[in-house]
Amino acid sequence: MSGKIVAGALAPHPPHLVYAENPEQNEPKAECGWETLRWGYESLRQNLNQIDHDVLIVHSPHWRTQTSTHFSGVSRLKSLSVDPVFPNLFRYNYDMKVDVELAEAMYEETKAAGLPAEMMRNKNFRVDYGSIVSLHMVSPTWQKPVVVVSSQGGAQYYNIHVMQDLMTALGEATRKAIESCGRKAILLASHSLSHRHFVEEPDIPEDMSKEHIYNHGQYIWDMKMIELMKQGKMKEFIDILPDFTEMTEAETHGGGLIWMMSAMGFPSTPAKVHAYGTVIGTGNAVVEWQA
Ligand SMILES: [Fe+2]
Repeated sequence: MSGKIVAGALAPHPPHLVYAENPEQNEPKAECGWETLRWGYESLRQNLNQIDHDVLIVHSPHWRTQTSTHFSGVSRLKSLSVDPVFPNLFRYNYDMKVDVELAEAMYEETKAAGLPAEMMRNKNFRVDYGSIVSLHMVSPTWQKPVVVVSSQGGAQYYNIHVMQDLMTALGEATRKAIESCGRKAILLASHSLSHRHFVEEPDIPEDMSKEHIYNHGQYIWDMKMIELMKQGKMKEFIDILPDFTEMTEAETHGGGLIWMMSAMGFPSTPAKVHAYGTVIGTGNAVVEWQA
């Protein structure tokens, strides 16, 4: 049985979005907030729910394993996740099933590609809030098993070009593992775009009269990158990604989007942009690629 990637999404992870959704798993409660992004996720969910899939695979910049890629290797991960920067907004009780067979296949293919890799076998492991927010916003029922993939620090440890090469190889390894395991997989690149942000929170975090783009230059960069996605020019996108990342402090430094694009063969079909919006000034786009 040959598996395949059935869709991919850029799925940003500001904890504010989960906070504003008021799910029962999250302790803090909000009045509202960040509707453009949350309704964009709603639209993405409607599309993904139409696509038959077995598993969600998420790559997060907030599970940082400096020099190698780690894969979740415990069949059930359950705990309380508290955002280190926004504990007032995100104290989330998660309970996720992990597709360990697929994670192990990804690990084997990654090693076979010559990249350093590890299986994470700690049953008390605390899953990072980036992975949890993206997974919750895409699939709040948590019915599908997941694989969580760490990001490594290649962009800082070497440079961003080395990181891009590593993540391209990781994407190819991921695709091979999905195919050999016979899974129908949705990939999630969990990160924002531009990432300069305000450093003071309003008294009411969801006060949308205080939310706006951090600066015009950052916004112009985001629009340029989104336009390339909409045009299906992902090779060009990757070419200018190092400049974009440097100029906007973008979370693309973790490599999630490169990993996903590589796994999907750098799609030339136009991406569906469901939403763009800011959270404490950072640029966030909810974007879908169907395979
Ligand atoms: Fe983040």
